[in-house]
Amino acid sequence: MPNPFKPTAGSEPPVLVGRKQYIEDFQFAIDDGSGAPGRLSFITGARGVGKTVMLNALSDIARNLQWKVVNATAAGDFLQEIIKLLHTGQKTHITSYTLPSVAIESSLPGMKANIGLGGMQFEHSQGSTDLRQTIGHVLDSMDESRQGVLITLDEVGEGTPLPQLRSFATAIQHLIEEKRNIAVIFAGVPHMVDDVVNDSVLTFLRRAERYQLQDVPIEDVWEAFEKTLSAGGKNASYDVLNKLARATHGYPFMIQLVGYWTWRQSVVNGHDDFISLEDCESGIAKAKDKLGNLVNAPAVAHLSAIARDYLLAMAMDEGPSNTGDIAKRLGKSPQYANVYRNRLIREDYIIATDYGKVDFKMPYLREFLQSHAAMYQMSRNIEDSGGFLG
Ligand SMILES: Nc1ncnc2c1ncn2[C@@H]1O[C@H](COP(=O)(O)OP(=O)(O)O)[C@@H](O)[C@H]1O
Ligand SMILES: [Mg+2]
Repeated sequence: MPNPFKPTAGSEPPVLVGRKQYIEDFQFAIDDGSGAPGRLSFITGARGVGKTVMLNALSDIARNLQWKVVNATAAGDFLQEIIKLLHTGQKTHITSYTLPSVAIESSLPGMKANIGLGGMQFEHSQGSTDLRQTIGHVLDSMDESRQGVLITLDEVGEGTPLPQLRSFATAIQHLIEEKRNIAVIFAGVPHMVDDVVNDSVLTFLRRAERYQLQDVPIEDVWEAFEKTLSAGGKNASYDVLNKLARATHGYPFMIQLVGYWTWRQSVVNGHDDFISLEDCESGIAKAKDKLGNLVNAPAVAHLSAIARDYLLAMAMDEGPSNTGDIAKRLGKSPQYANVYRNRLIREDYIIATDYGKVDFKMPYLREFLQSHAAMYQMSRNIEDSGGFLG
C-alpha cells in the first residue's frame, strides 16, 4: 500500500479535514445563480493552510456540474494564459476572437502591443476586452441556465502584475454586471489580498466574499488519521492517534507531514499492519524537521528584516511575549514595534493572546527560530540595538 499522505503543496489530501462549510457555501453560490454571494470570493490564509487544495476542491464541484473551469496562477502573463485555457476543449470555433499574435499582424484598431523584455504586454483595455469576449463566447456555447465558467486565480501576491489583474477584474466586473453565469475565486496570503482590494481601480472587488482559512479542529484531525490509517490497513492505538493529532496543531500541512513520516517509519520498522508508539514519535520528529524546511523557512524568508527580528525577539521567550519587552529587545519604540506586531497578526504568524501579549500561531515556528537564530544574524541585532539581551 503506497503512503496515502500527501505532504506536497497543492496535493489532494486523503481526507479534506474541516472544510465542509466552505464547500457547502460554494455549492450554494453555484446553485443560487448569477449574482449570488460567493460567486466572487477571496480565499486567504497562511502558507500551508490549504488554499490551493480548496481551489481544487471547489473546481471539482464546478467541473462535476459541467462548468468550464480554468485554474491559473496570478503571475507572469496570466491573462493570456487564461484566454488560452478557455479555448482548450472548446468545440465551437470562435471566429470573432482574435489571437493576440494574429491581432498584431492585422493591426486591429485599438490594439496596441509593445515588445518588451518579457515578451508582449498588451494594453489594459485590450486584454480585458479579449478576456470578456472569450468568456462570453464560452458561455454562449453552453447551456447557461445550468452551466457556467469558473476561474480560480491562485497566489495573488507580490509577483502579480497589477495591470493584468486590473484587466482581469474589469472583464469580470462587466460579465457580472451582465449577469453572466460566472464565478471567480482568488487565493493569496491576507495582506496581499488587502493590497489588491485597496487598489482603487479594483473597488468592485470589495464586494467579494472573504474566507480566511484557519487551522482545523484537532478532533477532526484525529478522525482523519483514524480513517486514513485504517483504510491503509494499519492499526493505531488511541494513544498514538492522540499524539499524531496533537502534533499537527490542526495545521493542514502538518497533518500530511505527520501522517507521511509516521507511515514511513512504520514501513521502515517492518510494522505492516500497525503504527507503534515509536513509529509515531520518530515520525513526528521527522515531520517537525520537514516543516522547518518547507514552511517555516520560506515563511520567515518572506518577511522584512524588522518583522523577522520581531519574531526572533519573541522566540527568546518560552511562552507568550510581552509586547513592551519585544520593543525593548528590538531597541524600538512601542509604537514602531506595534506596526510589525499588527502585520504579523494579520498574516497569521502570531496572535494576541491577552492585553499586551503575543504568541506564535504558526506551529513550531518558535522552535524553528530558536534553532536557527544564529542563521538569521541575531548577533547583528544584538549589536545594533545595544542591549538586545538586557
Ligand atoms: N483541509 C485539509 N485537510 C488535510 N490536509 C490538507 C488540507 N488542506 C491542505 N492540506 C494539505 O496541506 C498541504 C498544503 O496545502 P496547500 O493547498 O498547498 O496550501 P496553501 O496553498 O495554502 O499554501 C498539502 O500537503 C495538502 O495536501
Ligand atoms: Mg498554494
